[in-house]
Amino acid sequence: MRVDVVTIFPEYLAPLELSLIGRARSTGLLDLTVHDLRSWTTDRHRTVDDAPLGGGAGMVMRPEPWAAALDDVRTAGRASLGDGAVPHLLVPSPAGAPFTQAMAHELAEQPWLAFACGRYEGIDERVLEAAAEQGPVTPVSLGDYVLNGGEVAVLAVVEAVARLLPGVVGNPHSLVEESHAPATGGLLEAPVYTRPAAWEGREAPEVLLSGHHARVAAWRREQSLRRTAARRPDLLAAVDAASLSKADRAVLDELGWSVDGGRLRQRG
Ligand code: ADE
Repeated sequence: MRVDVVTIFPEYLAPLELSLIGRARSTGLLDLTVHDLRSWTTDRHRTVDDAPLGGGAGMVMRPEPWAAALDDVRTAGRASLGDGAVPHLLVPSPAGAPFTQAMAHELAEQPWLAFACGRYEGIDERVLEAAAEQGPVTPVSLGDYVLNGGEVAVLAVVEAVARLLPGVVGNPHSLVEESHAPATGGLLEAPVYTRPAAWEGREAPEVLLSGHHARVAAWRREQSLRRTAARRPDLLAAVDAASLSKADRAVLDELGWSVDGGRLRQRG
């Protein structure tokens, strides 16, 4: 997968040289280039921002350097991926669509992603309009809070997507049973333990030492349900009731959840 990131703080993306993502880059699974937006400015002060039209606080990123940067990124990518290649442009913004594991899976299927990191109040909207004439553009949000710019969101999105590329994570089974993975049926993952089995007077759950795979699986399933009910009732409400066993329903009933019209509902 090819990834281009345009930012005024290229150093912010340095963590993408570390760990599994760094290794994916050095082994060629991930071809990631970080570009400094200021390289596309034409004035002595390398200006990238200006006051918002219509007034208001903060500054807005001017369209000219962005348009030039995205043009050059597209040209360079086509030189390596072929004439017909188009990047999917992701624009981190608190006003974007929420980034999810499902979106990470969709993006992991694409050959080429480009990220436009806004700072200040954001990027002049016409940049996104013009880019949308060249290829898909998706504003994405990490969550309902405001960061100072898109760089932290790029770190999160690139890590979530790149670890899904075949060969990036050593053991592909570790991708199957994690929270938010389709295989966990929209539930959070159960708690995990390792040796020593007794630590500072705390015993790991005995079932995990039993070697009894079916009992371990049943325990983990129950813990997933309990944890999801406690921490993410919104996820439980989205579960398809047809996927619930009798044992699941008994646990949920104890926690105050009933099946109603194919969905789970918390009793008032
Ligand atoms: N830029 C500023 N806040 C953001 C957020 N919540 N998600 C993505 N990009 C952002």
